[in-house]
Amino acid sequence: MKKKDFLTLYGLGKEDFDGILDRAERLKSLHRNGISYRPLAGRTLGMIFDKPSTRTRLSFEVGMFQLGGIALFLSRRDIQLGRGETVGDTAKVMSRYLDVVMIRTFAQELVEEFARNATIPIINGLTDLLHPCQIASDIFTIREHFGSYEGIKIAYIGDGNNVANSWLNAAAMLPFYLSLACPEGYDPDRAILDRAQRESHGRVELHRSPLDAVRGARVIYTDVWASMGQESEREERAKVFQSYQVNEKLVQSAAEDAVVMHCLPAHRGEEITDDVLDGRRSVVMEQAENRLHVQKAILEMLLEGETSE
Ligand code: CP
Ligand code: NVA
Repeated sequence: MKKKDFLTLYGLGKEDFDGILDRAERLKSLHRNGISYRPLAGRTLGMIFDKPSTRTRLSFEVGMFQLGGIALFLSRRDIQLGRGETVGDTAKVMSRYLDVVMIRTFAQELVEEFARNATIPIINGLTDLLHPCQIASDIFTIREHFGSYEGIKIAYIGDGNNVANSWLNAAAMLPFYLSLACPEGYDPDRAILDRAQRESHGRVELHRSPLDAVRGARVIYTDVWASMGQESEREERAKVFQSYQVNEKLVQSAAEDAVVMHCLPAHRGEEITDDVLDGRRSVVMEQAENRLHVQKAILEMLLEGETSE
């Protein structure tokens, strides 16, 4: 049987994706009811981090523990990969010890090379290009809040970054509407955008004006203007993105029942105001919590066949 990976949402398929959300819902309910469920007893997750993390590390580490397994935090600084051991050798060796690996790094190609060389499932925990675990979990939050993600209009305001690219990959596969507003020069990845526009049959739009993007939207989503690795551009970006702030005025222009989402960490006062982030429309903390339940569902799915409830 071919091993499964979770490197991108693209190509996953609606049925498999909905299956992950259904399992996440079940796992959340078990957890909320204090029911212990440990199908991954004796299993080990390795977590390679080239960039910082709060939510991704916590959700995978705690999630693996709750499922009965253990997780190892492997900072690049502390493993031989950081001293020039090849990605291929690292992947092959880790496959002999571990059951699954999650990687957060810069280049998407590194994660793909790792996956090609590994004989165990590999999870993309964020690259410069994509953040599939985040968007899977965000769609879970939307489904939980509205009962379904189908037909919902989501407005993504800000930088055409890894988060925006993964939204586009999701829109190519799932029947929701995605309306992005990005300043010129900060669009999402061109190939991913074109493919999403083609495959979504008109459900994806790119605007320059945030007001145009949020009209009729039931989800307003934003992310930082300078992602990890772009710290030196922060000041310049703050100027370019000034009119892309998610504030009360913008929220007022969306649907009456609109919710506000942010993957976090936020730069309060830049891409989002305090009153909106902490306000009654915000589902940001539910969103953060749901990473845990969805990460558990992904781990279970990747190791499935060897586990059953
Ligand atoms: N949203 C997210 O991935 O958060 P961390 O960078 O804290 O993992
Ligand atoms: N776009 C952000 C997401 C952080 C979770 C970054 O890459 O830094």
